[in-house]
Amino acid sequence: MCGIVAVIGSRDAAPLLLEGLKQLEYRGYDSAGLATIEFSSQASNNGSLTCLRAGGKLVNLNSLVDRDGAPGQLGIGHTRWATHGKPEEKNAHPHRDSSGGLAVVQNGIIENHRYLRKELESEGVSFLSDTDTEVIPHLIARQLQLSLAEGMSPSGSILVEAVRKVSLELKGAYALAVIWDKTPESLVVARRQAPLLIGLGEGEFLCASDTPALAGFTRTILPMEDGEVALLTPLGIELYDIRGERQQRSPSLLNGLEDVVTKRNFRHFMLKEIYEQPEKAKLWVDRHLPYGLPASSPIAYPFENSFYEGIERIQILACGTSRHAGMVGAYLLEQFAGIPTSVFYASEFRYSAPPLAPNTLTIGVTQSGETADTLAALAMESRRRKSHGNPAFAPRQLGITNRSESSIARQVPNILDIGSGIEVGVAATKTFLGQLLAFYGLALTFASRRKSRSVEEITTMANELRNLPSQLFSLIEKHDQLSISLSQMFSETQNVIFLGRGINYPIALEGALKLKEISYIHAEGYPAGEMKHGPIALLEKRVPVISIATPGVVFEKVLSNAQEAKARDAKLIGVAPNGLAEEVFDALLPIPEVSEWMSPLFSVIPMQLLSYHIAANRGLDIDQPRNLAKSVTVE
Ligand code: F6R
Repeated sequence: MCGIVAVIGSRDAAPLLLEGLKQLEYRGYDSAGLATIEFSSQASNNGSLTCLRAGGKLVNLNSLVDRDGAPGQLGIGHTRWATHGKPEEKNAHPHRDSSGGLAVVQNGIIENHRYLRKELESEGVSFLSDTDTEVIPHLIARQLQLSLAEGMSPSGSILVEAVRKVSLELKGAYALAVIWDKTPESLVVARRQAPLLIGLGEGEFLCASDTPALAGFTRTILPMEDGEVALLTPLGIELYDIRGERQQRSPSLLNGLEDVVTKRNFRHFMLKEIYEQPEKAKLWVDRHLPYGLPASSPIAYPFENSFYEGIERIQILACGTSRHAGMVGAYLLEQFAGIPTSVFYASEFRYSAPPLAPNTLTIGVTQSGETADTLAALAMESRRRKSHGNPAFAPRQLGITNRSESSIARQVPNILDIGSGIEVGVAATKTFLGQLLAFYGLALTFASRRKSRSVEEITTMANELRNLPSQLFSLIEKHDQLSISLSQMFSETQNVIFLGRGINYPIALEGALKLKEISYIHAEGYPAGEMKHGPIALLEKRVPVISIATPGVVFEKVLSNAQEAKARDAKLIGVAPNGLAEEVFDALLPIPEVSEWMSPLFSVIPMQLLSYHIAANRGLDIDQPRNLAKSVTVE
């Protein structure tokens, strides 16, 4: 979380920093700040550092820059998602050393900051914020003092070396950018387990924690590797590993960011992204489900045969919405393809993984490709399997992501890019659908390779998927209208229950999560049969129940569970096909009558749109809900 952007070049840094931060605001929007350095005197080679910080959203920083100015061609900027210290100005980045001439922005968490702070305080350093970050400028300044005392002159080289040495003292995951008024032609950046990319622009170098911040300035990027430190000057880039060894790497080109940050005519990115789902589903079908593939290999995924061979079980690691997609995936992989599959919260798996089983494929699902818990869980699993020694236990990993240039793609050997296009709204919608489709493709492939389903069943599912884009198109238009009127009944609502069973249980969880995130209404998703074991005590007439009832093995059961809720006076809203059980529900959100396998791809649409319109009626900040950030790069 938090967004970092930095630049060194020949034009004014502040407008570039503000533009970059605008693209990163989805990573955090509690406060924002920037620092710039301008040559004040060629003779002394000193610069003068301006640091501006503002609580709240980026617009506040924009106004401050307009009012006070931030001259200089070297600068660092930050948009914050608070971890240590309240979201207020004193905790906003950049943080500076005691002289005020060295400024740092950081994304991540410095886990040993309390220890380091005490040590620095015992040396007489005073702290001005409650953040973990503030130790960093003081540590770098201490290191620089040592170099200067040894007779070295201020230079980019001593700054990069000081940052490298300080990196060795820091514990945790972080990305940082540093400027110093004694070296106005040097920008130093470093990363460990948090993303950071260098951009090679025309007459300037940039650095940012995510590609959208760079896309407006350059398409040529150099992703930094874990533990690297870089010195950027107007003349070039020097890259070092954590031991100080010079590294050489070629940059690569960014693709597919054209559509990034325009809402078109939609009121919010979230609504635009919901509407993009048919088009993204069509892209997926065109790319992966072309007609004419043999039933033995029905999906065009970029993997060799050996990728699929000998897999006896699958484990899925993910967080939030991505975990819900993983749960649908697990249902498909077990029930359709016949492979025992488990799903874990990545944050739990890291510290309590089950005993190792042989021939296991581990799938990490993360739209951003940067979620710290998911990356760490995958890394931990890979390490413990490598150290086992028996080839049957060797790591086999797949990442499902929307960002093929992200950290997961550098960490995991096999990647499925869901190709949903950048998602700006903090609440995931089109990427959830993309993740679901990735799992449908895997289930089809495993089912046909293992012959757990007949050719007819496989062909039927493939054809149903081919029909999905056009069906989604009309469904979204219809539910947009229906949800506008139904959302009125939620104006005073404080609690909502979502029920689903089987393959639609994860969709009930996803419906509850969407509603909580953007409307701040308390919501819970339950497997419908579990209601009577406790949660039913919550029901009364002010608690609406949204029940997903789609034809299949549990259809009648779900209807009975729904009626149990209705008998407790709860308002019952059904997500079900027309003409099957209208009499049970007080209101119906109709979805097409499709096979049970396909139903989550449809039942999720009313969940997204109803949550959206409930939040819109309340006038909430839908694309940037309070306390959230789009990618969660801290543990
Ligand atoms: C919910 C949402 C989050 C993310 C979660 C994992 O709308 O977006 O719950 O799903 O933070 O993020 P990724 O998929 O980037 O790992």
